[in-house]
Amino acid sequence: MKIQNITDMIGNTPLIEIDSKIKYYAKMEGSNLFGSVKDRAAKYLMEKTYDGGIIKNDTVIIESSSGNFGIALAGMCKIKGNPFICVVDPNVTEINRKIIELLGADIIIASKPDQNGSYIHNRIQIVKEYIQNHKNVYWTNQYENEYVWKAYFSLGEELCNELKQIDYVFVAVSTCGTLAGTSQKIKEQFPDCKIIAVDIAGSQIFEQSKRKNHISGIGTMFVPQNLEHAKYDDYMIVEEADAISECNNLLAKGIVVGASSGAVAYAIQNYTGYSNDLGAESIVGIFPDRGERYLDTIYDKEWCRKIDIDNNVRFG
Ligand SMILES: Cc1ncc(COP(=O)(O)O)c(C=O)c1O
Repeated sequence: MKIQNITDMIGNTPLIEIDSKIKYYAKMEGSNLFGSVKDRAAKYLMEKTYDGGIIKNDTVIIESSSGNFGIALAGMCKIKGNPFICVVDPNVTEINRKIIELLGADIIIASKPDQNGSYIHNRIQIVKEYIQNHKNVYWTNQYENEYVWKAYFSLGEELCNELKQIDYVFVAVSTCGTLAGTSQKIKEQFPDCKIIAVDIAGSQIFEQSKRKNHISGIGTMFVPQNLEHAKYDDYMIVEEADAISECNNLLAKGIVVGASSGAVAYAIQNYTGYSNDLGAESIVGIFPDRGERYLDTIYDKEWCRKIDIDNNVRFG
């Protein structure tokens, strides 16, 4: 495959058949240029805001993200030449921090947790204060920006072109951008297809919860505005331990993915709302990223033991 423009390595990701008996496919978003589903949002957003004259190449881009969106934006800003400030929290993994820095971003660390131990509100407060005190800054605001969720029209279109029939699509949620854009396009072509949002225990998108969660990428502590644009039929909450053990099951097939992919794979196999028996339908799971960024977390036995201890102390 010959590629002229490096950003053409975002999108058109492989769709692999995980299990032919139950017609279950996975869209491998870890194949994108900077390694995750968020590359689509970073690319689309940068292109649209450049085209619309909203940003120029001296505009400072700022975002709150400790993970894949921070990496994707750092990469796109490196390509376009924009300065990028990434607001992270103390839970950022060393590997993510190093990749974001390697791609040239400046990092600000939020340090004030709320009563749930989450830093998200403090991170957003830091972004807002920065914008107030500086000129020529653009906040990409991944929880609300239409260019974030519309970026996933491409994902929905790819799936519609790749499969003759789609009955169920399982989508991991955090900002709900993937869910919103993908679901809109799938429903245009396959109006009867059921879209199932997959969240992690402890997240507050669909249910109020006081539980602590440890896994990054999936879930968030409020209801993102992007959810208003999502056409979903149901949701399923997956325990952290089940998402991790499903990642290990996928390893046995040679598939190395992050915990949100494990959550999606678990949901596909344990969802109780299927209209027909599992196997009678064509099912797609979106696998948001690869597993290498999680070697020190979900693939580390000691780290996983800590989750067990935390959960037992709190809920056992
Ligand atoms: C690993 C992983 N899974 C799932 C998601 C959820 O995607 P979205 O923010 O579009 O809801 C993200 C978002 O950052 C992610 O990094």
